[in-house]
Amino acid sequence: MIGAATAMRTDLCGRLRLADAGRTVTVCGWVDRRREHSEHLAFVDLRDRTGVIQCVVDGARDLRGEYVVRVTGTVRRRPEGTANDRLATGEIELADCSVEVLSASEPPPFPLHERTEVDETIRLRYRYVDLRTERLQRNLRARAAVNSAVRRAMEAQGFVEIETPMLIASMPEGARDFVVPSRKEPGAFYALPQSPQLFKQLCMVGGIDRYYQVARCLRDEDLRADRQFEFMQLDVEASFVTRDDVFGAIGEAVAAATEAVTGRRPGEPPLMTWGEAMERFGSDKPDTRFGLELVELTPLFERTGTRVLQAPCVKGIRLPGGAAGPSALTRSRVDELVEAAKRWGAKGLAWMRVVPAAGEATGGGAGGGSGGGAALDAGVAKLLSPAESAGVVSALEAEPGDMVFLVADERPVVRQVLGLLRLELGRPPVGEGGLNYVWVVDFPLFEGLDADGRPVPSHHPFTMPHVDDLDRLEQGSGPDLLDVRSQAYDLVVNGWELGSGSVRIHRADVQRRIFELLGIGPEQAQARFGFLLDAFRFGVPPHAGFAVGLDRLTAVLVGEENIREVIAFPKTQSGADPLTNAPGPIPPSHLGELGLRVAPPA
Ligand code: AMO
Repeated sequence: MIGAATAMRTDLCGRLRLADAGRTVTVCGWVDRRREHSEHLAFVDLRDRTGVIQCVVDGARDLRGEYVVRVTGTVRRRPEGTANDRLATGEIELADCSVEVLSASEPPPFPLHERTEVDETIRLRYRYVDLRTERLQRNLRARAAVNSAVRRAMEAQGFVEIETPMLIASMPEGARDFVVPSRKEPGAFYALPQSPQLFKQLCMVGGIDRYYQVARCLRDEDLRADRQFEFMQLDVEASFVTRDDVFGAIGEAVAAATEAVTGRRPGEPPLMTWGEAMERFGSDKPDTRFGLELVELTPLFERTGTRVLQAPCVKGIRLPGGAAGPSALTRSRVDELVEAAKRWGAKGLAWMRVVPAAGEATGGGAGGGSGGGAALDAGVAKLLSPAESAGVVSALEAEPGDMVFLVADERPVVRQVLGLLRLELGRPPVGEGGLNYVWVVDFPLFEGLDADGRPVPSHHPFTMPHVDDLDRLEQGSGPDLLDVRSQAYDLVVNGWELGSGSVRIHRADVQRRIFELLGIGPEQAQARFGFLLDAFRFGVPPHAGFAVGLDRLTAVLVGEENIREVIAFPKTQSGADPLTNAPGPIPPSHLGELGLRVAPPA
């Protein structure tokens, strides 16, 4: 057992308080700052993982920032009027200090005690220095608290942690595999697991009944704020359970993790169907912390004479106060939004200001008003018929001073563009506005058709279709398959996809049909996942599971927008590790041993 006191120190810097006054203590840490006090005396702020303590040091001239020192001194109350109430140790200081330099430091590559924006590559190149910052100290501790809380929660529910291999055969998880060449069998490759998906299903065949793992997953995909090559999942699978049992188990683990970091236990997440999420929020990851919901306007414009609004789908959103008052959008901001909408795939973005209806106020506004005393003005307002204007005002419950935006296009485009516009206009930073967990259920089984008219699965091909849609799956083809629902579900928080899972197919007939629809013939199926199909011939229990992204969960809980801030040694956006210089070449002899030759760049 090792406590705060060790052979080298009696106390931790940030834990000392006024109650310690009079004690002679020894603390160790890094020199955070040094300020000259008088000709001989200097204030040295000493920092360890718990915080800083001010030390009054005689002859501190040789102490520079980031030197590692051991200081022995007497705790005393700071002189009248010099207390620092922003610091936990701000009432006290260490006096009569003797200092032992344990190691010197070159000037650090960036300042540690200011929250300045430091270039990402520099931060990652010197990650060990970056790790000393309060931000990363706090984030990594929160991460450890998340891991520990989810483990305890799963174990309390009877789940068993099983480790699965890292060197495996390629499996269908949707991204590109990282591969490892085999030395024993030149020309053959292992894949690194994108997730333990098929192994956890084999565990179910193996009678484990309740499996979990805090699992490392690897995917060769383009990196973004919420994506790294390597990431961690709380991976779960259980037998003889329904979707709601999975929600119960995962809900418990996520609630425990949330409480461990924030001190508050969230309520049970509400359920929303995929269809509702797409229609109201324009996204399968609805951020429900704010309104600005998408409103259906298609029937209103069914027979419109306005060419820009002639489309299979029209929807709108209303930005309260967007046209008048302190939060009104400027004309250049509106132009920017129009450009953004085009980048997101729309042909254009129709906008209008909401003004008091003629007769209600000073007159002026064009277009017909509604009973609410509002009318539309500017933008495309003059192209709308009075009935259309009145319909928009009433459907969007628009009031004078609001701005309204309309998109007319194919339904997927409308949802996507307004969904992104909504985020652009209203999304709070990830750490603000509470934690809105939502289960999104009833995803479509297929996300579209490929060039040959074959359905493209939304999840891996072992996802169970919705029981009510099995007939349609059996008989349907082409576009009618697109409304077949699956028993796949996601957990979303504040607009982030936190995790996903499904009830799996355990029926050979259903699996055969899925493979047939996907164009995977029996031989190909046998070659790719024969081991799973074989296992299923030996008694497979009905089973279901889920995986929560632990990097994302931790980031949301500590209010970070980029998961790299909760990972000790992450990669840059381009996938490099500036600290160890990975990826790098390997010697030709090593390549030879693996039977590999590097082709010249194309
Ligand atoms: P899925 O692929 O949806 O499901 O992944 C589950 C969760 O893992 C996290 N995640 C990532 N986090 C960081 N960087 C990445 N590149 C990355 N990719 C995914 C997300 C995501 O929601 N085997 C299935 C689960 C199952 O069906 O049980 C799976 O892996 O938070």
